[in-house]
Amino acid sequence: MFYITAGFWLILGVESFEGGSNHTITVKPGGSVIIPCYYDEKSPPQKKYWFSEHDQSNKYTNTTEENLSVIDHPDQSLFTVTMRNLQENKHNGQYYCTVETGQKTNITYELYLQVHSAPDVSVMNSSVSGHEGDDVSVQCFYSSGYKDKQKRWCRYKDQKCFSEEKTDTSQNSSVRISDDGESSFTVLMTGLTLSDSGWYFCSVGHQTIPVQLTVTEDGVFAFHTSTVFCTST
Ligand SMILES: *[C@@H]1O[C@H](CO)[C@@H](O)[C@H](O)[C@H]1NC(C)=O
Ligand SMILES: *[C@@H]1O[C@H](CO)[C@@H](O)[C@H](O)[C@H]1NC(C)=O
Ligand SMILES: *[C@@H]1O[C@H](CO)[C@@H](O)[C@H](O)[C@H]1NC(C)=O
Ligand SMILES: *[C@@H]1O[C@H](CO)[C@@H](O)[C@H](O)[C@H]1NC(C)=O
Ligand SMILES: *[C@@H]1O[C@H](CO)[C@@H](O)[C@H](O)[C@H]1NC(C)=O
Ligand SMILES: *[C@@H]1O[C@H](CO)[C@@H](O)[C@H](O)[C@H]1NC(C)=O
Repeated sequence: MFYITAGFWLILGVESFEGGSNHTITVKPGGSVIIPCYYDEKSPPQKKYWFSEHDQSNKYTNTTEENLSVIDHPDQSLFTVTMRNLQENKHNGQYYCTVETGQKTNITYELYLQVHSAPDVSVMNSSVSGHEGDDVSVQCFYSSGYKDKQKRWCRYKDQKCFSEEKTDTSQNSSVRISDDGESSFTVLMTGLTLSDSGWYFCSVGHQTIPVQLTVTEDGVFAFHTSTVFCTST
């Protein structure tokens, strides 16, 4: 996890993702995954890169290869790592996103990538979208061994998580989670705002799966309508 950000949220007492030291993503053989690596928008990093524990001499940034892309999105304060054609023996292991800020510490986000034919947590579509004001739902599937683990929906940016057993009523949550207790839980986000756009993850125990949410502006159609009206009068 982004250690500094996580510490900040813990101080504020907001429920934060635990078990970040072994945050695991499982992908099927031959599959692909996109991993977002956020950095602090207020102090843009001097260097940012992706590397694996097995091969620490190769640090990837700005990469577009057949099976690996590392692309920066400064407008969203993140870079994405896309790994394709994942192989069981080749790609299992610990990976790191590192951001060098030039300050006292480097910020490192670590995760364990597992390539396995039966992922314990999965989603149908790792990309969802909606218009401003709409509702969107995401179904996160889990394997039977994970029935009793805690189900959560977390935001990468600040590692803030929503869980089903939310007792804190002071927060007016627009996120609701319902677990069928068997094989999936559904996250419902209501009244989407543009700032809800970004990367999230379904989490069951320490197993996670990333999901990108894109919220589009609602005003586009109205704007065109009025343009047509003006030019035709
Ligand atoms: C992290 O989790 C994976 C599988 O979930 C496991 O194989 C690995 O040993 C764990 N690593 C640590 C440091 O606990
Ligand atoms: C890396 O990305 C920056 C910003 O998008 C770009 O200006 C630069 O040319 C890229 N470098 C390489 C080696 O692709
Ligand atoms: C990409 O992955 C495929 C499938 O494993 C492999 O055949 C190919 O050689 C890889 N490409 C590169 C450039 O490593
Ligand atoms: C940050 O990482 C770089 C490259 O690994 C290293 O040279 C540097 O000393 C690190 N800085 C700190 C403060 O740990
Ligand atoms: C996944 O969702 C995106 C955005 O909602 C959509 O464009 C895409 O077609 C979907 N893919 C699949 C396989 O359903
Ligand atoms: C909670 O949400 C409802 C519906 O979105 C809204 O009407 C109400 O004003 C909110 N309350 C607070 C305290 O934010």
